[in-house]
Amino acid sequence: MKITVRVWRQPNSQADGRMVSYEVDQVSEDMSFLEMLDVLNERLTHEGQDPIAFDSDCREGICGMCGVVINGEAHGPVQTTTCQLHMRSFKDGDEIDIEPWRAEGFPILKDLIVDRSAFDRIIQAGGYITAPTGAAPDAHAAPVPKNAADKAFDAATCIGCGACVAACPNGSAMLFTAAKITHLGLLPQGQPERDSRVLGMVAQHDEEGFGGCTNIGECAAVCPKEIPLETISRLNRDLLGALVRGDSN
Ligand code: SF4
Ligand code: FES
Repeated sequence: MKITVRVWRQPNSQADGRMVSYEVDQVSEDMSFLEMLDVLNERLTHEGQDPIAFDSDCREGICGMCGVVINGEAHGPVQTTTCQLHMRSFKDGDEIDIEPWRAEGFPILKDLIVDRSAFDRIIQAGGYITAPTGAAPDAHAAPVPKNAADKAFDAATCIGCGACVAACPNGSAMLFTAAKITHLGLLPQGQPERDSRVLGMVAQHDEEGFGGCTNIGECAAVCPKEIPLETISRLNRDLLGALVRGDSN
């Protein structure tokens, strides 16, 4: 296949950016999207041009490092990570726009790379437990109902990619924050900090410049791990409970 990509190029966080067109030929449908960019970057390097900066690590859909907006959709036309998107989703002659995540909480560092350290600070504000660690306890030492264990596990599959923020018209990170709160809030080990966790993480979410949730649902539609919208309902219930309990203390 021969395709044209229009890529957001921005030398650093202070500089202005613009879309730049490149033709890429000999694109195999078996290539991943990132491999297609690798091929283009090899050519740019060979020509003495600055290669396109983009994030990736595992390239197996599990680390959450990769992520770009492809033709206006976070991670592109398939509900998966950018590294798991293959060129068979496109056809010969296609023109593909590639942009970074765009959100106030994710400042652009260079080209397609954004600073997602805001997610780390949201986790630091409460995404942990204080139960003593040490040797691994027996598997059944703390019984957990099967339904809660399954839901906690599902929420724990959030890889922190940030696609939910990029897709949300409000630039909200509520799906990410709710996944972390749900993961810990459903387990017995997560109960002691349940109120302080939701209060701290939501406050940090807002402080980072992410917008509020207005139930649009674009976040869940693009989430590669299919984190459901109901996790945000759980966050809201926890938040309300924590505020009420805080007022009555
Ligand atoms: S909730 Fe989904 S889209 Fe958002 S960071 Fe987690 S895995 Fe990515
Ligand atoms: S590079 Fe790890 S999820 Fe894409």
